[in-house]
Formats: sequence, C-alpha cells, structure tokens
Amino acid sequence: MDIRGRRLKRFDSGASRFYSSIGFDGPIARHVIKINTAHMISLVKAGEVERGVGEECLRFLSKETPRPRRAKGAEDIHQLIEQNAVDRLGVEIAGFLNLGKSRNDQVASAVRMELRERVIRLLEAIADLQAALLKIVRKFGRAVIPGYTHMQHAMPVTLGHHFSAYFDAFQREIDRLVQLYARVNVSPMGAAALAGTSVAVDRTAVSDFLGFAGIVENSIDAVSSRDFVVEALACSETIMLDLSRLSEEIILWSSKEFGYLEVSDEYANSSSIMPQKKNPVAAETVRAKCGSVLGSLVAVCAILKALPYTYNLDLQELTPHLWRGLDDTLASTIVTAGMVGTLKFDVRALRLSLKGDYSTATAFANYLVKAHGVSFRQAHAIVGGLVRMSVETGTPFELTISKHLSPLSREITGKPIHLAQGVLNGVLDPASSLHALSSSGSANPKFLQRGVEKRLSQLESNRSSVRRIREGLSRADALLLRNVNSVLKGVKK
Ligand code: ARG
Repeated sequence: MDIRGRRLKRFDSGASRFYSSIGFDGPIARHVIKINTAHMISLVKAGEVERGVGEECLRFLSKETPRPRRAKGAEDIHQLIEQNAVDRLGVEIAGFLNLGKSRNDQVASAVRMELRERVIRLLEAIADLQAALLKIVRKFGRAVIPGYTHMQHAMPVTLGHHFSAYFDAFQREIDRLVQLYARVNVSPMGAAALAGTSVAVDRTAVSDFLGFAGIVENSIDAVSSRDFVVEALACSETIMLDLSRLSEEIILWSSKEFGYLEVSDEYANSSSIMPQKKNPVAAETVRAKCGSVLGSLVAVCAILKALPYTYNLDLQELTPHLWRGLDDTLASTIVTAGMVGTLKFDVRALRLSLKGDYSTATAFANYLVKAHGVSFRQAHAIVGGLVRMSVETGTPFELTISKHLSPLSREITGKPIHLAQGVLNGVLDPASSLHALSSSGSANPKFLQRGVEKRLSQLESNRSSVRRIREGLSRADALLLRNVNSVLKGVKK
C-alpha cells in the first residue's frame, strides 16, 4: 500500500524493499491484529467511531490472517492489515482503523507482546533444566568428585554440590527474567506517533484488553524506548554464558582424558569417517550459540547508540536481532535440559581421579592447625613441602608424610608433629574431608538433602509463577473477546 501523504511520486521499489520490515514481521502479525481489535473497541466505546463501522472492522479483524508473503507492496505488517481491510471494507469503513494510533505505538506494543510470550517460554525451559539438574543431584549427589580451580584438582566436592551450583545460577536467570517481564509488560498504545492523540482513547482499557499490567506513561518514552530489547538480550546472553560453561564441562568431562560422563546418544553424533566417534555436538552448538547471542546484543546496542528521540526507522532493525537471540537462547536451553537429563555418570572414574591428586592437602593443613596449634601459614608450608617431596620422589603422599612430617615440622615450627597412621588416613580420605567442612553452603554431604528440598520448592514456585503469568494473559484474551462480542451484539442489523 503506497500511502502517498504529501508525496507525489511512487516509491522506488528497490528502496522500499530495502527499508521494508515485511520479511520479518511474521512473529508480530497476530499481536498487531489484537492491538487493532482492542483499539477499535475503545474507539467505539468512546463514541469516536460509529458502532456499525466498528462492527465491520471487528468482524474483519476476527477473520484476518495476513500473509506477509503476499504483501501487495505493503511496507510492513501494519500497512498490510490496513490495506487488506480497505480492500475488503472500503476506505470509508476501514479508514477508521488507524484513528488515534500510529505504527509507532503499535509496533512497540506488538514487539512487547511477542517478547512477553518468548520470556514465558524461556522461563519454562529454564525450569525444565533446573529439574534435570536436580535429578542428577538426587541420583548421584553423594558421589565424591574433584573440585577444580584453574582447571587443577583443588579440593574434593560432591557431584550434588557441583550441579546445585548450576541450579542456583539458573535461579538467578529466572529472577532476572521475571523482573524483565515486568518492564516489558506495559502498553505503549495511546502514545500514537509520539505526542499522544486528541482522539478519546482509553489507554488503560486497551492495556487491559492486551494483557498488559499498565501503560508506558510518557508518550515519547512509549514510542522511543527499546531498553527492554537490550535487557532481554542481556538476560539471554547471561543465560547463554551459563549454558556455555555447563556445555564446556560436558564436552571436557566426556573426553577420554576425563571420562567422567557420557552424553546420551540422542545428543551426540557420529563421524562420517571415524567409526568409533561419539561427538557431543549438541553441547558444542550451545557453546557456539553463546557467541551468536552476544552478536545480537552487541548489534542492538550499536543500533541504539546515540539515536535521537523519538521514533526512527533504525528501531525496526532491532527486531530481527531480538528474535534471533531469543530463538537461540530458547533452543539452547531446551536442548541442554534434555542433554543434562540423560547424562550418564561414571562414578568410579570420578572417584579414581581423586587418587594421588593431593586434593585433601588443605584438609590436612587445617587439621594440623586444629590439632597441633601451628598457624595456618606454617601448616601450609609443612604440607606444601611434603607434597613437593612426594611429587619429586614419586613416593605416595601417606608414606612421605609418615617419614618426613616430624623433621619438617620441627624445621618449620621448632616442634615435631607426630601423627598416628589411622588419624592420617582419615584426614587424607576425600570423603571424610568433606564431613569436616562446617561452613554453611559448603560441600559437606550432610547439607545435600536439605538443599534438594529447598530447591525442589523453589522449582515449584518458579513453575507456579509462570502458570500465574499465563493465566493472566488468558484472562485478558477472554476479556478482549467479551468486549468484541458486546460491540457486535450492540449493533442492530
Ligand atoms: N515497520 C516499523 C517497525 O517495525 C514500524 C513502522 C514505523 N514506520 C514509520 N514510518 N513510522 O518498527
């Protein structure tokens, strides 16, 4: 539809293809129809449009399924729907559709509505991933594994403690998305092009019909602001960063060098030439998508930078990045939930990896402080010296300790320390070292059960918040439908 306005010449078709959004307006099409519907109801109720006109428009909108591929030269989905209405009803009727609204408030509203749904789906997917993580904690939680710092064996922890940490990280992602949702879920409608309108539109009623929690008060803010797009992609990227770290561990842990786990067949592929291969390709793809989503985030920041208020067509260019970033994040979360839920752990390999790795050296040093009154720095020096001797001579740690603890402690502290073999074995055993951990939130297995219960109820409350959000949107749909029907019924044929 070539809305000429003040222009005399037809537009250049190459140029109009270049600045058209019709190719990527698909995701907002149904929202644009809903917005037109809600707006028309408010026009009829305010007496700005005659009921008969309103009825025809509403009937048209209730049947309209715009096909962006047959755009008839329309620049975007907003024009296409209006054009279809004009073709069907004539301009004397359909020409009222755009009274008191603009594509500027409409597109901002439609993008918010679509984003809202994607945030909900993401919340559900993250909850599924949390459930998969908890399943591991419950099934293999007590398995003792090496904890790493700098990718070196550091101290023993449990598999349950490790995966509970991921659960908690994803809880923060949920919290961030819930906050994001509240900022997305406000209606720009009624701001019109930028200044508001002299037409009597009931902004709050339109907002209610569309399921928003309220309106974006300032009309300029309503059409100009896209910080919610940046925030949505920033939330997506922090999710992707968490997912990429988890994926990287799955990739490493499934390698021959680690051998701690196996990815289930559904999430791996084979080599076209090497028959023995099982590649953790789903995890690799998640790791890569983290970079793609970052690209989308950077793109929207670069587009928004220094963009003057109010609406500029530059804003249109944000939308494909938004959908791409959210699609990648959702798909990555869903696949990771499936992959994590089907991981097969080799608990024996995990236990064996702790053999001779000195990862209870800290527990040993703490024991010397507690039982023998040396300072921690002195204990650190004694144990460090013993580890060096053991590594240099290739002698097992226990043997090195029984031979050299007493002379070395005398050298460092002036007093020899003697340890009974039984005590030593207890102190150096990875599993017993965990039981000595007493700080809250530590890897002591005695905290596992309570942690599982707490996280299970967290998961339940995550799921019920999403249910409440969905119910709110369904209630708004029902309200809109009731109002459409009441306009239609009020018309005498
Ligand atoms: N297609 C545009 C977008 O996606 C909305 C149209 C606003 N165009 C305009 N000339 N005011 O942002």
